[in-house]
Parts: sequence; structure tokens; C-alpha cells
Amino acid sequence: RDDLVMLGIETSCDDTAAAVVRSDGQILSQVISSQADLLVKYGGVAPKMAEEAHALAIDGVVQQALDNAKLTEENLSAVAVTIGPGLSLCLRVGVQKARRIAGKFRLPIVGVHHMEAHALVARLVNKKVQFPFLALLISGGHNLLILAHSLGHYVQLGTTIDDAIGEAYDKTARWLGLDMRRGGGPALEELALEGDPTSVKFSVPMRQHKDCNFSYAGLKTQVRLAIESQNLPTENVPISSASSDDRRSRADLAASFQRVAVLHLEERCQRAMEWALKIEPSIKYLVVSGGVASNSFVRARLNDVAGRNGLELVCPPPRLCTDNGVMIAWTGIEHYLMGRFDPPPPPNEPENFQ
Ligand code: KG4
Ligand code: ZN
Repeated sequence: RDDLVMLGIETSCDDTAAAVVRSDGQILSQVISSQADLLVKYGGVAPKMAEEAHALAIDGVVQQALDNAKLTEENLSAVAVTIGPGLSLCLRVGVQKARRIAGKFRLPIVGVHHMEAHALVARLVNKKVQFPFLALLISGGHNLLILAHSLGHYVQLGTTIDDAIGEAYDKTARWLGLDMRRGGGPALEELALEGDPTSVKFSVPMRQHKDCNFSYAGLKTQVRLAIESQNLPTENVPISSASSDDRRSRADLAASFQRVAVLHLEERCQRAMEWALKIEPSIKYLVVSGGVASNSFVRARLNDVAGRNGLELVCPPPRLCTDNGVMIAWTGIEHYLMGRFDPPPPPNEPENFQ
């Protein structure tokens, strides 16, 4: 069926997002309200504050998504909403909104796993991505390597034993005094272009572990120690007021960090591909998604690794890599088409029902 119209709602972390997507793959609208200013001010996501920001934004964001698609709730086939993983206070804002709409307009509801959505959005972007495929999902909270056999059937090949790569980017960016308003990752990627990636010798994590798991806590510590040993004025002196020597040292650190952080991804993907191709020789695609996958250096390096193994890299465009409502709506469509959805909740359900 090509004519389903799905509203997707995402509130698992710090962005309030909604989108309307049709089952033929048309994105009818996409709206995101970000809490970047709060993040800069408080140095991270504080659940209670994030919940309030979502609660303030959600009605406007959903209305905007419907308006931009030139639709009303009556035109929808169903509502998809992120049910996890994420901050429970934040998730609840999205789930309550979805249930309110679904109850009032008698719409089925599809609960969506946030990480599955990061992976499946690749199938919206590139219709050729058939199961089985490999996926590397890299974001602020998660680092996953999965073998996707079929819809809903995923084998986890690797995960992080401590921090995710996005967390390491964000901390490093903060320590280097970068402008966090655009997010630490993009700022660090830009500064790294000015630096020498071999100038600071960081060791690649987990080389002695012949598995597909990840670790970024140790690399974070290595960065911290390097900053301290160079006596760099760190987060207290913004990069904008750094001397040119100071700026070069920070750029060298950024580039060296990025090289090793991504080398770790490359090595784990190489192993995962060798292993997965043995049991599933029909795999043709490596999907790389999640916020960190919007990084050009990451994309280029993983493109090489995929190519060397005879796979094609599929990386959604940056705005579909970072958290968004489109991936939720699309994953909702995939499940809906397989008959996996819940019936409409009762109308006028009490707000604190869940
Ligand atoms: O998927 P996402 O939007 O949210 C989570 O589910 O966590 O990922 C956010 C993460 C943040 O850590 C952010 O710094 C990182 O993705 N990120 C980047 C880039 N853009 C976003 N990291 C490196 N380079 C980028 N260009
Ligand atoms: Zn995410």
C-alpha cells in the first residue's frame, strides 16, 4: 500500500520532533524544535527541564507538521511514537500526545523503538536496502552494531561497554572550548579540519578484545590527560578568544581524537562484516545512522571499509541521521504494513493513564 499517511512523534531526548510521511516514501513534512540553548546552559540534558521543554513545544510542533503537510488529523492513517529507549519523563510527553490524537480521531497507534528507527530510515532513503543488512548506529547515547535479518528481527553484534562515540565528541568539544550551541560533534568536526590527526598519539580502544564491542570512556580520559599535560586553557577559554598557537593545539587534539574515535568504528565494522558475511553472504549494505553519522569524516572512512568488503554504504542525509520525526513515522509505516499496531486508545483517556 502506497497511500498510508503516518504522523511520527519523537521526544526521547532533547529534540521535540514530528513529521508526516506517506508509505510510498514521500516526506510530507518535518518539524524539529531543539533545546540546544538549554543544553549549553546546563551542560547536558536535565530530565525535568527537558520534559518541560517538550511539554511546551509538543502541540505546536505536531500542528506545524500537519499544517506543512496541508493535512488535518482526519487525513492520517495512524500515529507512530517513540516509546524507548530514552528519558522516561520525555518519552511520556510524546506518548501522551500520540494517544490524545489517536483516541480523539480513532487512529491506530504504533510504538517505535528509537534505535530501530535510526536503522530503518535508511530504507526510506534508499529503497534498495533489503533485509538482511548490517547497521552501525552511532549517537549520543548508543553505539550499536546490528545484523538486521528482517523487520523486528535484529541480532546485536556489538554495543558500547561504557560511553557512546557521540558522548566522547560532545565532552571533547566542551573541553576544547568549542561553541556547543550547534552541538559538540559538528563544531569538533569543523575544528579537526585545521589540525594534524597524527600529532597526538592516542591508542585505539579495545584492540586486545577480538569482538565487536565499543568503548569510548578510555579515549575520553586520554583526551583529558593530553589537554592537562599541554596545559591548555580548556573549556573556560572559548576557542573564539584563543591565540593562534592555542587554536592550532586544540585543532591537533580534535583531529587526533577524531582519527582514533573513527578508527575504532572502522575496526569493529571490519570484524562485523567478516563475521556477518560468513553466515549471511547475501548482505549488500552497511547502514550507518544516528547523529554521529552526519559527520563527513565518519562517512568517508566507513565508505572505504564497506567498499573493501564489497558492501555499499548507506548513510541517510544529515537531518535524517540526527533525531527526527521522519524515522519514527517511517518505522511506524513498516510495522503497520506488517499488521503490528495497537488499536485506538479510548477517547478522553485520563492524561496520566500510562
Ligand atoms: O542520534 P542523535 O541526534 O541523538 C541521540 O539519539 O543520541 O545523536 C546525537 C549525537 C550527539 O552526541 C552529537 O554531538 C552527535 O550526535 N553529532 C555529531 C555530529 N553531528 C551530531 N558527532 C560528530 N560529528 C557530527 N557532525
Ligand atoms: Zn537518536
